[in-house]
Amino acid sequence: MMPDPVCRMGFGTMQLIGPGHWGAADDPANSIQVLRDAVDAGVTHIDTADSYGPFTAEKYIRKALHPYPEGLTIATKGGLTRQGPNQWAPCGRPEYLRQCVEMSLRRLQIERIELYYLHRIDPAVPMEDQLAVLADMQREGKLGHIGLSKVDMSQVREASRLVDIKAVQNKYNLTNRASEYVLSHCERAGITFVPYAPLASDGLTRAVGELATVAAKHDATPAQLALAWLLHHSPAITAIPGTSDRTHLGENVAAQHIRLTAEDMTEIEAASGQGDA
Ligand SMILES: NC(=O)c1ccc[n+]([C@@H]2O[C@H](COP(=O)([O-])OP(=O)(O)OC[C@H]3O[C@@H](n4cnc5c(N)ncnc54)[C@H](OP(=O)(O)O)[C@@H]3O)[C@@H](O)[C@H]2O)c1
Repeated sequence: MMPDPVCRMGFGTMQLIGPGHWGAADDPANSIQVLRDAVDAGVTHIDTADSYGPFTAEKYIRKALHPYPEGLTIATKGGLTRQGPNQWAPCGRPEYLRQCVEMSLRRLQIERIELYYLHRIDPAVPMEDQLAVLADMQREGKLGHIGLSKVDMSQVREASRLVDIKAVQNKYNLTNRASEYVLSHCERAGITFVPYAPLASDGLTRAVGELATVAAKHDATPAQLALAWLLHHSPAITAIPGTSDRTHLGENVAAQHIRLTAEDMTEIEAASGQGDA
C-alpha cells in the first residue's frame, strides 16, 4: 500500500539519530517519543533507511511503534554502507541487497516492507542486477512497492522498464528545484514523488526577509509555508520533513491544512527567489 493519500505529510527519521547520522541519538527517549507523537498526530508514512545510524532509526521505530497501527506505511531503504559520521558509500551487489532487506525485516519486526527504496544505484553494478533482486523479493512477498532514490530522468526511465517503480525520492524543496523535470515525469507516470530535505535541511526554517513576511500573512512559520508549498505544487508529492523536536513535529503536521491560492503560490515562489523556476 502506498502512503495514504489523505495524509500527505509523512515523517523522516534522519534527525532522530546521532550527529553525522551516526550512532545513537543524544536523547534516545526523545526520538522514541517523537515517533509516537507523529503517529498520534495522524502521520501514516514514516521514512527511514537501514543506513541511518546505521540501523539505529529502524530500531527506534520498532521500539516506539511495534505492534504497528493498521495503515502505517514504514518505507525503508538499502544499498548504502556506512564508514563513519557523514560517510556513505553505495553497495548494490545483489547478495548484499538481499541481506539489507532481510535485516530490515528483522529489525522492524515485520514480514513485508510496503515501500522499499534502492537508496543509491551503485554505478559499479549493472542496474538490472540491483533491481532484479528487489523484484525477486517482491515476488517472494517480502517487498510491496519498489522505489528509487537520488536518480536522474534517464535512470527513472531505465528502471521503470525493468520493474514497476512506485516512488522516487530526490532532493527537492522551494529553493532547490533541480528535480523539477523528474517530478513532472512522476506526476505523469503515476509515481509518488517524495522530496527529501523538504526544508532544505533547515535552510528554509530560518528564512528571513520576504518569505518570513509571506509566512506571517498566513499565520504560519517559514517551515510550514515551505511544506504547504510542496503539497500544493504537485499532487504527486508526499512530504517527509525530519525533526527531533516535538513542537516542530506538530507544526509540520499542521502545515498540511494550510490552503494556498495560485496567487499565494506565485508570491511564495517570488519571495524565495524562485519566481522563474
Ligand atoms: N533518500 C535520501 O538520500 C535522503 C537524504 C536525506 C534525507 N532523506 C529523508 O528525508 C527526510 C527529510 O530530510 P532531512 O531530515 O534531511 O531535512 P529537512 O526535513 O529538510 O530538514 C530537517 C531540519 O529542519 C529542522 N526542522 C524540521 N522541522 C522544523 C520546523 N517546523 N521548524 C524549524 N526547524 C525545523 C530540523 O531540526 P529540528 O530537529 O531541530 O526540528 C532539521 O535540522 C529525512 O529525515 C530522511 O528520512 C532521504
